[in-house]
Amino acid sequence: MDFDRPEHSPTSDTFEQLVARRLSRRDLFRVGVVVGGAAAVAGIAGPAAALPSPASPPAGRPGPVGRDNAFRLPITPVDPPAPAPFDSPVVAAGYTHDVVIRWGDDVFPGGTPFDVDTQTAALQQRRFGFNADYTAYFPQRRNDNGTKRGTEGLLWVNHEYTDGRMMFRGYDPAAPTREQVDIELAAHGGTLVRIEQGRDGVWRHVPHRDNFRVTATTPMTLTGPVAGDPRVTTTADPTGRAVLGMLNNCGGGVTPWGTLLTAEENFDQYFANAAAVTDPRAKEANARFGIPAGASERKWERFYPRFDLAQEPNEPNRFGWIVEIDPYDPRATPKKRTAMGRFKHEAAAGTTTADGRWAVYSGDDSRFEFVYKFVTRDRVNRNDRRNADLLDSGTLYVARFAADGSGEWLPLVAGQGPLTAANGFATQADVLLHTRQAATLLGATPMDRPEDIEPNPVTGSVYIALTNNTRRTEAQEDAANPRSANAAGHVIELVEDGKDAAATRFAWNILLLAGDRTTPEARYGTFSPDQVSELACPDNLAVDSLGQLWIATDGAPGVLGTMNDAVLGLTVTGPERGRTQQVFGGVYGSEMTGVFFNATETTMFASVQHPGEGGTLAAPTSNWPDGGSSVPRSSVVAIRRA
Ligand code: FEO
Ligand code: CA
Ligand code: CA
Ligand code: CA
Repeated sequence: MDFDRPEHSPTSDTFEQLVARRLSRRDLFRVGVVVGGAAAVAGIAGPAAALPSPASPPAGRPGPVGRDNAFRLPITPVDPPAPAPFDSPVVAAGYTHDVVIRWGDDVFPGGTPFDVDTQTAALQQRRFGFNADYTAYFPQRRNDNGTKRGTEGLLWVNHEYTDGRMMFRGYDPAAPTREQVDIELAAHGGTLVRIEQGRDGVWRHVPHRDNFRVTATTPMTLTGPVAGDPRVTTTADPTGRAVLGMLNNCGGGVTPWGTLLTAEENFDQYFANAAAVTDPRAKEANARFGIPAGASERKWERFYPRFDLAQEPNEPNRFGWIVEIDPYDPRATPKKRTAMGRFKHEAAAGTTTADGRWAVYSGDDSRFEFVYKFVTRDRVNRNDRRNADLLDSGTLYVARFAADGSGEWLPLVAGQGPLTAANGFATQADVLLHTRQAATLLGATPMDRPEDIEPNPVTGSVYIALTNNTRRTEAQEDAANPRSANAAGHVIELVEDGKDAAATRFAWNILLLAGDRTTPEARYGTFSPDQVSELACPDNLAVDSLGQLWIATDGAPGVLGTMNDAVLGLTVTGPERGRTQQVFGGVYGSEMTGVFFNATETTMFASVQHPGEGGTLAAPTSNWPDGGSSVPRSSVVAIRRA
């Protein structure tokens, strides 16, 4: 969900004039420059941008999986499917898609078919949740290198948030019922479900007793430096270690020891009555997260006191974490790993450091918030079980981007630099509970809403999606966020010193500026249309074993006008670097999320989130995927060769 929709149309004079005025030459050299033939590929194309910067990584070696990869670029991209909006997915020539699982489909055996008019919380607990986001694929047997690793999988899917207007007929936002609230609690979290590809090539989900649902009420354990801190204790949990549920899980990542990480993002929207909090530091943090002073929009606090800060001021401190889940053990308790900091985590993808530790990147998706990295203290052990608590000890860093294309990871460690007791950071728990405040004190660079971050195992670079920030003013432009009123977003490439994810210094450049290539140059100021890639609002990212980057977008219709949100691929090295090619387009009102490949990279999974958003069940603006007059249902699709 994009909770920061642009406030004004990017086609307005104000926007053009604003942007046209600016952008210094100094910043320009960092952006990919035009190479002729940018329009040589039919359909949607980005710049063939040469990046002579020393930061530009050499092409690497594809991983062993790359041989079977069904998405080797170039593809024949989706032609601009004007005029949008439209309500059936579009797929690049030579590809097809299956709907793998929809909101309300049974995850366990013995269920009844979904009917929007007979929902109950008990039924929703056993069904696929609402608004699918990040997806991850695991072979059904851990470390399976056999022929079935690519056709029999465990699919994890985040359920980011719910929308009562799209779930219940006659929903009254001012007075939701307890049953509606309970259904929404059960439709949050995530789903782990078996999937199989049949001989006909079609992917289907398989109800199974070892599938599992995680919801907003699933018992979880708080681990790491904040666990047991008085600020995470509540009436229901005096230990400060036993939390109910996870909320607003957006992006994620997988670890080499076979677990998945899922990121709690906009947790502020579930809480009410921040005005009742008296502690000044908690007050400041709540305000910066956006927790309302009075009633919440969802009104869950009417039924559950834990969402009411007047009754349970510490409950929000138990959200905004990275959660670790074992897909191979339905009985294992999910762990909230506090060492990785508390903010609006968008993502949690990682990579191995030169000395064998694990590094996890995570953006904080709000305007002017930061990019983070966590590096474990210990090495990844070959024995999976020995990594059970690896993520509880390590160093959290925040990024500062310098104008000369260099950068620094600043350690968020209590007692170091300005993070002193005098400044309110006596303990590491102080730093982790108030990560944003600590990062500000260190001088981190405020970014244009960091969404997904994804390391590239082939090139050794790291890609950061900055989705948009229409509130950046001219005075706030900097080299890493070079466009004020940035409605379309950009993608930064970060190269760690020595290509080592444990490095504390890095180089960076802009991989692409998103926008509309067909509009006058004036819209991009000193950037020419050939420096702009045809996409808008990059959000989820994925990198395949060929080192190709895949981008899911959230906001294209508002910026490009002619296109629904989409999944696009691009190469990040060579003469085609930065040229986007659309492989899939979603449906009316939806954003695309959750790009992930099966183990052989013959299939790309993606989620169509919130089809028909903005409408109601009484007047749906989408009937996808079932057509006719059916209610729209967020679903996971499998994209594969036709
Ligand atoms: Fe949940 Fe920032 O997207
Ligand atoms: Ca978004
Ligand atoms: Ca997102
Ligand atoms: Ca990703």
